[in-house]
Amino acid sequence: MTINIKNTKTNKIHRVLHCLYCNKQFRFVSSNKIICQNSHEFSIDEEVLILETKIKLPKKFVWGKKLRNPKENLLLDETQSTLAKPKSKLRMEKMISFIVNNLTKNNTTILDIATGRGLLIRNLLPATENSVIYLTDLDTDVLVGTNKLIQTLHGKNTIVPITSSATHLPFNNNSIPIVVCFGINNVRKTREALIEIWRILKPEGKLIFSFSLMDQNSPSFDWLQTQNDKPNSFDVIDKWQMEAKNMGFTIFKQEILFDGPVEKAELDLIPRENGERFQDVGVVLIKKST
Ligand SMILES: C[S@@+](CC[C@H](N)C(=O)[O-])C[C@H]1O[C@@H](n2cnc3c(N)ncnc32)[C@H](O)[C@@H]1O
Ligand SMILES: [Zn+2]
Repeated sequence: MTINIKNTKTNKIHRVLHCLYCNKQFRFVSSNKIICQNSHEFSIDEEVLILETKIKLPKKFVWGKKLRNPKENLLLDETQSTLAKPKSKLRMEKMISFIVNNLTKNNTTILDIATGRGLLIRNLLPATENSVIYLTDLDTDVLVGTNKLIQTLHGKNTIVPITSSATHLPFNNNSIPIVVCFGINNVRKTREALIEIWRILKPEGKLIFSFSLMDQNSPSFDWLQTQNDKPNSFDVIDKWQMEAKNMGFTIFKQEILFDGPVEKAELDLIPRENGERFQDVGVVLIKKST
């Protein structure tokens, strides 16, 4: 079930959440607004708590109002996304299964970063019970659509969708045991996001994610060099490990799920060329206790 916000004025679910202006907890939640202890007010749009209002999403990520209709979401899977191509579909499925298989699923709290159209969450929910699951994305429209799309998959879980940037999360320090993300380098400030995730994870908490990495000096790498968001160590094969360790994570598991030539898809954020090499990796990081 989705939290019935009307009945949860000072509800326990929001204990881990805090206001992004003053870090205080929330004291009031109605169906259309949420107010912190210092009276900062945030709106709620079709069940999505809009807690981030300052950080703007780059245009290429903005999905638009269309995706508030979940049918549009499913249509994209069938036509333009990587799922529309059998080989790429298999790659996506492997990356999603890695996360679902490495997760403690029941009686816990899970935060999904950059939920987007919900490919991960649609697979994760049927395998999970009695958990509180926070969905976060910077785009409210896509969260509204995804939240509708998963209505029949909730089971005994509680779903809390929040407009929030991965680089500025409205959660207390050391508050979340499990963070998941399918495609972590879609958040272009990946390093900033990982530092933020480290902050909110409990000591010994796990960050479980999968991503596709490019070859240095590949056409995709060259293209990304021409963009505002230059390639970083979470874009290129075998560069991310050192960076993750420096941040205070232990690499608990890393599994190469695919390595080889890929095909182009219409919805790709990087205009990759058919046949260039990518490596898909599944990773489990643990926040070292200090
Ligand atoms: C391709 S989707 C990722 C796939 C998604 N995890 C799934 O399971 O379907 C990329 C998403 O990242 C979101 N995004 C990009 N930058 C972000 C940021 N800084 N914080 C939160 N979400 C972000 C975009 O709005 C978009 O919905
Ligand atoms: Zn506040």
